[in-house]
Amino acid sequence: MAEHQERGSDRAQAIEAYPRKILQYMEGFLISKTVFTACELGVFDTLHEAQRPLSAAELSAALGASLDGMERLLAACTGLELLTTQQENERVLYSNTEEARVYLTHSSPVSLYHSIQYSSKTIYLCWHYLTDAIREGTNQYEKAFGVNSKDLFQALYRSDEEMVKFMQLMNSIWNICGRDVIRAFDLSPFKVICDLGGCSGALAKHCTSTYPQCTVTIFDLPTVVRTSREHFVTSAHSRIGFHEGDFFKDPIPKADLYILARILHDWTDQCCVELLSRVYKACNPGGAVLLVEALLFEDGSGPLTAQLYSLNMLVQTEGRERTAAQYTALLTAAGFTSVQHRFTGKTYDTVLGRKQT
Ligand SMILES: C[S@@+](CC[C@H](N)C(=O)[O-])C[C@H]1O[C@@H](n2cnc3c(N)ncnc32)[C@H](O)[C@@H]1O
Repeated sequence: MAEHQERGSDRAQAIEAYPRKILQYMEGFLISKTVFTACELGVFDTLHEAQRPLSAAELSAALGASLDGMERLLAACTGLELLTTQQENERVLYSNTEEARVYLTHSSPVSLYHSIQYSSKTIYLCWHYLTDAIREGTNQYEKAFGVNSKDLFQALYRSDEEMVKFMQLMNSIWNICGRDVIRAFDLSPFKVICDLGGCSGALAKHCTSTYPQCTVTIFDLPTVVRTSREHFVTSAHSRIGFHEGDFFKDPIPKADLYILARILHDWTDQCCVELLSRVYKACNPGGAVLLVEALLFEDGSGPLTAQLYSLNMLVQTEGRERTAAQYTALLTAAGFTSVQHRFTGKTYDTVLGRKQT
């Protein structure tokens, strides 16, 4: 008993002596801001384009930054294992690590540059009001950006520039997770596919390349469709078409499969059932709906990314992240049956509901 108590107090002392985890959490935003800033200033791009290691003086001159500030930023990026250093005479020279080159340079095909930009310029500002969001139970667009968020997507798309930035954010994660979500279920039986809220068409492209027999229609708000046509989907994507409309009001085209990727997490349960019921009516018999979302575990214990995303949905939208059982309940209320789900092990998972033949 005494030995037990002693061990317990040893553990308490070890926790009090150095609260490593708490310190990491407290200072986590310093890391985010360091990465945002290095991306925004163009540190990784400049090192990549130079095709040789550069000194702090060369980088500060190229990027119009103070030498002292640049030296500290480069040191922090080295500590974060995004840069490596080598000594040349008196000078320290910096290079991108392979991970920084692949994911943080603008021109890389799997770049997270746009996600980082949006996190820095938009999400970070909303999170400043997280405490208010928790108290009030609503998003914080009005406080963060001075825009009324009664119409959520009017607030998100408050200028053409903001809309393109949002579309770039949506686009970038599918370079990393798109293949997994499109392959989590065998979608080859579905020939006519409609991607509702298909945005930049990133998932539509994965679909057509994975399933050579299918065509995909991207259904989205008119301005988004026009931008997607202009900036994201080229004529080379011959099996991808477009349909402008409001999925809460306008007729939904008939299809064998509807993809709703990161759609339901924006909305309340009531709106979700309303939308899914419209989808169910339009769906061909024997067809299905594929939800792509970050699934929470049933017991609420994780994954941490989905838990944090659910807070993000609170500060930014009207929705939340949900468990597979919660999505099953929404699908069942709309008429879908035989609901199955798959965790991909990455950020986004899938839920498939069927309409009887
Ligand atoms: C969070 S984004 C998801 C985009 C895309 N599915 C993805 O995962 O990359 C939500 C999408 O729904 C579209 N959207 C929102 N409200 C809509 C509506 N009422 N009718 C049609 N599309 C809508 C938005 O324009 C946006 O493209």
